[in-house]
Amino acid sequence: MSLDQTFITNSSWKPDLFKGKVVFVTGGAGTICRVQTEALVLLGANAAIVGRNKEKTDAAAIEISKLRKDAKVISCPNTDVRKVQSIVEAVNKTIKELGRIDFVIAGAAGNFLADFNHLSSNAFKSVVDIDLLGSFNTVKATFVELRKNKGAILFVSATLHYYGVPFQIHVGAAKAGVDALSNALAVELGPIGIRSNVIAPGLVDGTEGMDRLLTTSKSNAQTKIPLQRLATTRDIAEATVFLFSPAASYITGTVQVVDGAAWHLGSTK
Ligand code: HXC
Repeated sequence: MSLDQTFITNSSWKPDLFKGKVVFVTGGAGTICRVQTEALVLLGANAAIVGRNKEKTDAAAIEISKLRKDAKVISCPNTDVRKVQSIVEAVNKTIKELGRIDFVIAGAAGNFLADFNHLSSNAFKSVVDIDLLGSFNTVKATFVELRKNKGAILFVSATLHYYGVPFQIHVGAAKAGVDALSNALAVELGPIGIRSNVIAPGLVDGTEGMDRLLTTSKSNAQTKIPLQRLATTRDIAEATVFLFSPAASYITGTVQVVDGAAWHLGSTK
């Protein structure tokens, strides 16, 4: 569910927390990353929504821009994270129109259920290319801005590689790589003031991922989660705000799991 003005009035955050900051979001037209962006924009940031699909990406940028009177939210459509030059073009457009990049959310992802026997080498590669290589390319293309502004990176990962989930070999392998990428970047880029963290959502209500991947009923899944409910997109957005805020200025190289403790019990799907 999208956020609205009540996020500012009913939240723990200061309204102008991110005033003057610019966030660059791959996958920003999708549900989770879109609501992450909405929260940052409601708290003062401007944003670049980066996506493959022109219609969806343009629409998301227009809708998010309406959340705050002076918000600048631009669309960078036709961007394929598998091609670094494609992201460079989105970065150039962002600098031209918004002036800078402070925060990067690497959220573009691909997924489908496939058993090992029917998972082709190319299918495996497609997901690893989007999720892992795409995350690397996103940091590569934004690095100069991150270095200049002592910025922060947030990768969107998962918990399924902590224990092994059937029919998710490709995604588990890619997300394990994303976690490793973030940890190494935190260590290597820490001395120049860039932070790198990961958010690992559990089952998030109302997302394409959950609709596609949940193999049991919603109520059955909920009872198996220690906090007895699915995550909301707002749960992920709140953790995002924290990790980009000055309150997290000493936090880097971490994975923030937002799943109601579900993964400790193993697969709840
Ligand atoms: C088996 C499949 C398949 C399926 C595609 N393939 N779908 N194999 N079962 N359901 C195979 C194809 O046959 C092909 O292999 C290869 O994958 C590439 O497919 P293309 O369609 O050519 O690739 P592309 O157009 O680049 O699409 C990428 C995609 C697609 C990942 C396959 O699903 C996509 O674009 N998804 C983006 C949107 C999305 O998935 N969002 C949900 C994110 S949720 P062959 O061998 O035939 O060439 C999420 C949550 C993660 O990420 C955390 C979970 C808890």
